[in-house]
Parts: sequence; C-alpha cells; structure tokens
Amino acid sequence: MFRSNTCGELRLSDAGKDVTLAGWVQRTRKMGGMTFVDVRDRYGITQVVFNNDTDAALCDAANKLGREYVVQVKGRVAERASKNPNLPTGDIEIIASELSVLNPSEVPPFTIEDNTDGGDELRMKYRYLDLRRSAVRRNLELRHRMTMEVRRYLDSKGFLEIETPMLVGSTPEGARDFVVPSRMNQGQFYALPQSPQTLKQLLMVSGMDRYFQIVKCFRDEDLRADRQPEFTQIDCEMSYVEQDDIINLFEGMAKHLFKELRGVELKEPFLRMPWSEAMRLYGSDKPDLRFGMTFVELMDVLKGHGFSVFDNAAYIGGICAKGAASYTRKQLDQLTDFVKRPQIGAKGMVYARVEADGSVKSSVDKFYTQETLQRLKEAMNAEPGDLILILSGDDAMKTRKQLCELRLEMGNRLGLRDKDKFACLWVVDFPMFEWSDEEQRLMAMHHPFTHPKDEDIPLLDTDPAAVRADAYDMVVNGVEVGGGSIRIHDSKLQAKMFEILGFTPEKAQEQFGFLMNAFKFGAPPHGGLAYGLDRWVSLFAGLDSIRDCIAFPKNNSGRDVMLDAPAPLDQKQLDELSLAVVAEEKE
Ligand code: AMO
Repeated sequence: MFRSNTCGELRLSDAGKDVTLAGWVQRTRKMGGMTFVDVRDRYGITQVVFNNDTDAALCDAANKLGREYVVQVKGRVAERASKNPNLPTGDIEIIASELSVLNPSEVPPFTIEDNTDGGDELRMKYRYLDLRRSAVRRNLELRHRMTMEVRRYLDSKGFLEIETPMLVGSTPEGARDFVVPSRMNQGQFYALPQSPQTLKQLLMVSGMDRYFQIVKCFRDEDLRADRQPEFTQIDCEMSYVEQDDIINLFEGMAKHLFKELRGVELKEPFLRMPWSEAMRLYGSDKPDLRFGMTFVELMDVLKGHGFSVFDNAAYIGGICAKGAASYTRKQLDQLTDFVKRPQIGAKGMVYARVEADGSVKSSVDKFYTQETLQRLKEAMNAEPGDLILILSGDDAMKTRKQLCELRLEMGNRLGLRDKDKFACLWVVDFPMFEWSDEEQRLMAMHHPFTHPKDEDIPLLDTDPAAVRADAYDMVVNGVEVGGGSIRIHDSKLQAKMFEILGFTPEKAQEQFGFLMNAFKFGAPPHGGLAYGLDRWVSLFAGLDSIRDCIAFPKNNSGRDVMLDAPAPLDQKQLDELSLAVVAEEKE
C-alpha cells in the first residue's frame, strides 16, 4: 500500500491514527532539533515532523530532501502546537517514524506554489510541473465537473453522445483548416474538423434526433485570449425544433451549470437582443451587459457646427461615464492613446465634462456654444460629475467597434466588470451574410447551412444583404460562449444559398454534394448549437485566458513549447507522403 490517506484528508479527529502518506516535498524547514516537511499531493498539503532527539538518522534523511522529491512517509497523526488556519489540514501534523524517497527530483525551474516565480513561457515549457500547482489544477477539476454536469443534463434530456471523425474533408467557408496529408492517397489531404457541423446534420438525417458530443475542433486562425487553435465544443443538434425550443433547452443547461458549478441561481429568462440593437447600443455582437454606458448617436447634435472632423463623419457616437468628470488631463490623454492604438484605429477622441454647476466643458469648446453642449448633455442623459467620451469616423460600423473598445476600457477602469457578476443574453436575428472585403463577395455570417428567417426568404433574390438568419449566440459578460442556428433542410434552398455565396453548382456539388444529396432523402427540420467549453470554464474560474483551463495549451504563436511542435518532418516521412517543403526565402 503506497498510502492510507491523501495529503488533504487528515483532521484533528484522526489524531492518534497511524497513517502512510505519499507525495511531493513542497518545502523543508529545520527548527532546532526538529525538521518540518510539507508533503503535497493533488488533494492538499500535510506537515510531517522529524525529531532529531528521537531518531537522528531519520531526521538526517529528512534534512537531505530536496524540493519535489517524491516521498512516502509513515507516522502518527498528532495535534499541532501551532495551528495553521489557512490549511484544511492545519490542525494536525504527522510525527514521522519512516521515510522512503520514492524518486529524487532536480531543482524545479520555478517554485510550485500559488504565487510562482515562473514566467509564462517557462511554465508552458514545464507545463507538467505547472499543473502541480493547485491554482492550475483547480481549473482542470472544474473542467471535469463541468463535462460531468453537461453529460448528466443532456442525458436527462434524451441526447445521445456520438463521436464523429477527426479526419474529414476541407471546407472552404469559415476559418483556415489544419490539413493532414494522406499516405495511402498520395497528394490528397484530410482536414481536421473546424466543428462537426455537417456530420451532426447528417446524424439528424439518420434519425438520431438528439445528438451531442464534447469534441475537439481545430481552426487555423489568429490567437487571442479566448481563442486556441484546438479547443473543445459541447456540440449539439436536435430534430423537429424551432429556435425557441433550442434556446429554452440550452438556457436551461446554462442555468443548471451556473447553479452546480458556481452556486449562482439565475431565475429570470435571459434577455434576447436583436443583433442590430446590440450593434447600435454596444457596437458589438457580444455586448458586456454588466454595465450600461450604452452608445448615443450624436449626429444631430454635433454635426454642422464647423468642426470638420464631426462635419465629415458618417457616425458620431458618445458614451457617458458616470462620475468620471474628475479624470485628469493625463488620464484623458491615456484614453486617447488607447483608442489610437493600431488594433483599435480611432483617429482621436473628444471629451466633455459636466461640471458641478451643470455647465459643460469640452475639448472642442471653440466649435460649440454652451447651448449646443447643453443639448449634448441632455442627449447623453449626463449629470454633474459625468464624463462624455465621443468618437467619430467615416465608417459607421468601424467607429462603433472602436467605441465598443473604449466602453469596455472605461468599464475596466471604473471597476464595472466584476468577475463575480454574470450578465447573460442571447443575441438573435443575425444577418445571414456579411460582405468580405478580402474575398469581394458575401460570406455566411454564421455558416452556409443556417436557415434564413422565413419572412426574409423573398429578399434572397432582391436584397440578400438584408436577410436575417435564424441564428443565435449566447453571450455572458461580453464573451460569446455558444452559438447555433436552425438549419436549412431543403436541398433547393441550400443550393440557392451556395449560389449567393458565389459557388458554381459544380463547386457546391464537389464541396457539399454529400449533404445536399442526403437532404433529398427525407431530412427532418433540425437545428442546434455549440457551446465553447474552454470559454465556459474560464468564465466560471474567473480566468483572463482560456489557456489556463486547458491541460496542454498552445502559446500565442500556436506552438506547443513543451512538445516543441510544430516541427519539420524527417525526409523519410516527407517521401512517404510525396511531400516536398519549399523553403520560403527570407528577406
Ligand atoms: P461557432 O463557430 O460559433 O459555431 O463555435 C461555437 C462556439 O465555440 C467557441 N469557439 C472557440 N473557443 C475557443 N477557441 C476558438 N478558436 C473558438 N472558436 C469558437 C465559442 C463559440 O461560440 N458549428 C457551429 C455551431 C452550430 O451552429 O451548432 C459552430 O462551430 O464559444
């Protein structure tokens, strides 16, 4: 028997018991004739005491232990003289009678403690050591509990968990694919699935009726705090449903998860906000509703007063930061620098303070009379002590997105984005298509299998850009935690959709023939949704990046620095695959 108990288990009521523990040496402290060793495992830390007076050889062995040695200790549980209230096992210690070193360890490259001294890259390189830290381990435990709860909930609703293949065909829509060369079919490539979208739709044609899968998805896209090249979806599909059925069932699941994993009871139905309203009021399809600061369009108030920046603008919008009139010039300059950062791209920012006496002082006073500034104050619903921040631009959508960044920044600065507060909503009525400057054509905003709103179907011929879709995203605290849609189940409508997306009938047949053919054999009406598991876990754990809830994540350049992947292939492997690497000349 390696151990009778874990290092997190023993309490005062166990005093007097003979126990065997196993774990890593967290630290050793020598005090007079006593040596204290903290032994750690997944469950906690227990203090073990070695007494030089009773067994000098044993105490000597304890003094030689290094950090992260794997040890087995036998001893008796005793009440501690000086208790540690910060540790669940802090009332007891083990008076050691035997010590075995199961495996020595080199000095770890960083301290394995909550507040470690290791930088990001170092911890990623030694991720298996980082995972020994309780802060990181707790995230994986939460992730495990989340998947257990998801399975329990979906099983109770009659869903079947079905696996779909990882080696599939490349699809042109969406993000870039990761591709895998085929040895048996030389010159041909599989792609790793960006999501099991088409396969789950085929499962509906097969009559599976309610499907789910906790599944890895792969997308070759630029990485951000909430994006990894491989991530996990809770992917679901249902037959004979309308949008409301799906929204209700998955809102139920969200509430179940909040209750079980965070102890938060969300009683009210989640708000449903049309996409157009989200863009108008928040400049985002994933608004953070933990705070207000909604946009006010100011074209009527501020245009035509001789300030050329506003006079030439296609959009002028403002936000009102309550109580922020005390912002200093330096803070305002910082905000201006913030919106001018290349990632945001605003040309400048105008501000107006509402003074204690109600008068308004702005950075563009020379163009505006106090009367106009008072109209601005009214339009913004601003009060004494408030700060109005205004952006303008010649592209309304771009300017709204910039104002969105400014709003979020102000939310952060004013402490309005509390991680223990949750604001959930559904964004609905997404546009069916969006224009791609890069491709110079309409692209599907969600994906090409999304059903247009019935009432908008006639617009497909006349004004496709105005067509709205039966698509919905769930947003929590400004994070898109899931999304889905009702699907097209009619092969003719699907063919029309491909036509609008610029596919020739031949190309559509080549890429998606398998799906359109399947739809000829009695496809039931169906729809579904996928939740982003990593995003949910990091939301519940209060993390800034989804990386921290993934056991072995990639870094910002998409590398696994621990495995040192990606890496070149051996010539032999390349030959087997008939592949040649053409090195790009470096400038
Ligand atoms: P979508 O592309 O919206 O929909 O993805 C669903 C959810 O997956 C999460 N997600 C990601 N998480 C981490 N890293 C990424 N790179 C990443 N990309 C997406 C998000 C997102 O809401 N097949 C459809 C779903 C459907 O229509 O049923 C799909 O994949 O939380």
